[in-house]
Amino acid sequence: MFYEPLGLDQGHRFLEIGLGSGYGTALAREVVGPEGLVVSVEIDPLTFAFGKENLERAGYRDIVLIQGDGGLGCPEMSPYDRIAVTAACRKIPPPLIDQLRTGGRLIVPMIEDDVQNLVLAEKTETGTVRQIICEVRYVPLKGICGGSERAQRLDSDALMPTMGTNELLVSYPWRQFHPARHEITRILRQFGDPHPQIEKTNVPGIAIVRTTLNNRDVIRRCRELFEGGPIFRFAVKWVPVDFWCETELQAMKSVIETHIRDLIDQDDTWAMEVEKRRWRQYHTKEIIDYLAASIDRKVDLRNPDRILRIDVLGPKTAISLLTPDEIFSRCKAHPPRYAIGRGAKLMEVKERL
Ligand SMILES: C[S@@+](CC[C@H](N)C(=O)[O-])C[C@H]1O[C@@H](n2cnc3c(N)ncnc32)[C@H](O)[C@@H]1O
Repeated sequence: MFYEPLGLDQGHRFLEIGLGSGYGTALAREVVGPEGLVVSVEIDPLTFAFGKENLERAGYRDIVLIQGDGGLGCPEMSPYDRIAVTAACRKIPPPLIDQLRTGGRLIVPMIEDDVQNLVLAEKTETGTVRQIICEVRYVPLKGICGGSERAQRLDSDALMPTMGTNELLVSYPWRQFHPARHEITRILRQFGDPHPQIEKTNVPGIAIVRTTLNNRDVIRRCRELFEGGPIFRFAVKWVPVDFWCETELQAMKSVIETHIRDLIDQDDTWAMEVEKRRWRQYHTKEIIDYLAASIDRKVDLRNPDRILRIDVLGPKTAISLLTPDEIFSRCKAHPPRYAIGRGAKLMEVKERL
């Protein structure tokens, strides 16, 4: 369905976004022949491993396979004569148009309201000429160019994950949101923010707090307040948020590599703490193994200088780089539950103080 309208032919340089099982990739390899080139990008690490293994088993060794966000294309091998995006998006990712040669064609399922249309676009000197081929149903494109809201504001600034210093996640006991909200409001007013915004997240027992105050200052002052007496009956744990991204391994890795890794000094030790809620796709160990490979600093589970904290809240994930005293918990500071570093063995610290 994709290759006919695309006019994929011998000798073409072809880029596929979404390797999946590798079936379409193998087919493209047969069509473009020995003079052509096939590059395929898959965002999901496990799907990538699956597709790669299938292709290897079938004897395809001359395909360039890349694990990463296909919305960014693969500029190293560009320009391409043909591009197939095999996941649906609201806007053609601009990097893909950049990497298409003039006269080249791109095919992509595009979301319009509740419908998906397979759109064929041809790049001209002045832009693209588009035609709808048929109605289709594909999985949504993930990554920086995917997601309904993201895709609509895909311009250079949208390539950055959200960053802020005024947000915190606050844990409260089961079904105690309202008393927790009163308590948080009272505390933040005392600190100087008369109107903090406090909302439930889609995870019971966790609220998101937006304040005009710096989130690290809030933690410091919570600790001082706590030493003065038993104030925190409902708002039991406070964690600053530095970044938000979509809940995808690739998106988390990209935040870590782009914004966090270099903030851990060469001599600093670190540990990772993952709180995974409403995301069943991976085990916590898989998440840690994958993300920890990006950081080559020494791990110290008991006494880290820095804690890389990942809070998965369904489709959104909060990521922060903290010192151990930048998390406030009524039940004392606790050690990270899991941590791993390159070359280090995974350890699980079971007890929580
Ligand atoms: C319909 S399947 C691919 C089918 C495959 N091309 C085939 O012919 O068998 C869509 C794939 O796109 C992948 N995907 C979604 N968003 C992506 C992105 N931004 N970059 C790369 N792959 C992506 C999904 O993980 C999924 O494996």
